[in-house]
Amino acid sequence: MSTKILLVTGGAGFIGTNFVRHVLTERPNWRIVNLDALTYAGNLVNFQDLAPDPAARHRFVHGAIQDSALLEQLFTEESFDAVVHFAAESHVDRSILGPEAFVETNVVGTFRLLEASLNNWKRKDKPEHFCFLHISTDEVYGSLGAEGYFTEESPYDPSSPYSATKAGSDHLVRAYFRTFGLPAIITNCSNNFGPYQFPEKLIPLMILNVMEDKPLPVYGDGKYVRDWLYVIDHCDGLVRVLEQGKPGETYNVGSGEELQNIEVVHLLCNLLDARLQKPKSKSSRRLIQFVSDRPGHDRRYAIDASKIKRELGWGPAHDFEEALAATVDWYLHNLDWVELVRSGEYRKWIEINYGDR
Ligand code: NAD
Ligand code: TYD
Repeated sequence: MSTKILLVTGGAGFIGTNFVRHVLTERPNWRIVNLDALTYAGNLVNFQDLAPDPAARHRFVHGAIQDSALLEQLFTEESFDAVVHFAAESHVDRSILGPEAFVETNVVGTFRLLEASLNNWKRKDKPEHFCFLHISTDEVYGSLGAEGYFTEESPYDPSSPYSATKAGSDHLVRAYFRTFGLPAIITNCSNNFGPYQFPEKLIPLMILNVMEDKPLPVYGDGKYVRDWLYVIDHCDGLVRVLEQGKPGETYNVGSGEELQNIEVVHLLCNLLDARLQKPKSKSSRRLIQFVSDRPGHDRRYAIDASKIKRELGWGPAHDFEEALAATVDWYLHNLDWVELVRSGEYRKWIEINYGDR
């Protein structure tokens, strides 16, 4: 197995943390430099339990991807084989209340990172094996009706400031491949779930609200459909892309597990009721409240992942319901983590987002 040095951006967020931990275990020859601005969504406590690392396989650098001088310094200090770009503002609801940070990080930040990567790649005589792996979302394709799937050829049609800025970053990455030849790959993935997800996204929010006997706010009629992928399966797919993916290509990543939001909430209620031994009369479902809808809410996302299956042999290894149960258990066993990451800023956000729904 070849040695690799990765610059991982946003490696202290939800997927980044799982990716860093996955790679440290699964690829003993790889080293990671983890650049993260530690916004509300990034937390170094995610690595507190890792064994001491005498080989320094995980170097953390606190900083923003917009900081060109810092990027230049890192590219000079290290000899990266790949950039794995997770860093982003990632929450649709936050993008509705404050889009500017999304433009700053997702568009300007990605641009600066591309510039630094391109300059370094040229300086090193354009090594063929270099890879700029851009982690993106299926939300760039907009909304589906009851039928059909997103393929790599689906037109871009983003609905929220989040997905619009991710679409912008995808276009920049593709342009750097076509115009300058920078070996870049884009992955567009469906909704992830699993450990370390910041507790304002649907699944952790519902788990924690049940724990605290708080209302479970379901937007609109709750019949919005998402394709749910266990985060470890996503990380496994990204490792495959790094090892076998072809520069210039896009790979859609998803599980095919399509569920309405209300179905996800019902499943979570069932799992939690069993674990918390709640009698039927106290079922968590009584906490469900249908609240006013998210503006521009995409009705359905569904991924056609046949390309990554066919070309890279990837498919989800985890059963959806088992992975959901493991996720519930992770939160139940890590309430101290929850306490640590729910800062004052988090509480303020919950008040603003749900205050007038
Ligand atoms: P997250 O919000 O949990 O983590 C984002 C991380 O980026 C945080 O650690 C944050 O501190 C860091 N960050 C933010 N701005 C930064 C900046 N300017 N410079 C450096 N670091 C910065 O997000 P996530 O859910 O882990 O998503 C990671 C990536 O995957 C994003 O690009 C997102 O668009 C994409 N994605 C997410 C999902 C999902 O379901 N969560 C699905 C598909 C694609
Ligand atoms: P979310 O986890 O924010 O992911 P995304 O918007 O990127 O798909 O939301 C998943 C779905 O759950 C989405 O259709 C919005 C819905 N939702 C609720 O119904 N209630 C909530 O409190 C949240 C956070 C989301």
